[in-house]
Amino acid sequence: MVTDVQKTEVPIRVAVLTVSDRGALGEREDLSGKVIIEIVEEQGWEVIYYDVVPDDVELLKEELQKLADVTQASLILTTGGTGIAPSDFTPEATLAIIHKEVPGLAEAMRKESMVKTPHAMLSRAVCGIRGSTLIINLPGSPRAVRECLEIVLPAIPHAADLLRGAVTDCGTP
Ligand code: MTE
Repeated sequence: MVTDVQKTEVPIRVAVLTVSDRGALGEREDLSGKVIIEIVEEQGWEVIYYDVVPDDVELLKEELQKLADVTQASLILTTGGTGIAPSDFTPEATLAIIHKEVPGLAEAMRKESMVKTPHAMLSRAVCGIRGSTLIINLPGSPRAVRECLEIVLPAIPHAADLLRGAVTDCGTP
């Protein structure tokens, strides 16, 4: 696990959304959501929302919008539905509601994950911002969640500070 994640100027409020038809029906235990919550809490960040929703693009768009605009999460971490199965719609829902894409985060996850499995090429994960909320799509398996979060975690505190206007100058002295 990454241990040298920097401190933020503002608290990081995290919403966790597991996207899984079987999970939403209660037919599968949501281990991936649990992994996310465990890692987020290890960082000292606050989990303010957690839910398991089906692979429904309209519902997902509504949930993401609500979590960004009303709940005002600093960070939304989704897990699942990023692949190429007929039921995978998480990237489409994310792309539909973000204001700006942050491609470097998804690029880094795919690049680093390919060292572990060639199947990383099959994740269409999208990362972006809506207002002052950063949204990161993670793949669905608990292992993938752990591996991908380790990759993006070091960039999140600075991203949160930038989005909240707590840092105006990125230059190092
Ligand atoms: N990335 C990492 N780091 N580790 C993994 O095990 N699994 C891959 C990929 N990304 C994986 C990974 C697999 S098997 C698939 S199909 C895609 O993510 C999409 O997963 P999803 O549809 O569950 O979101």
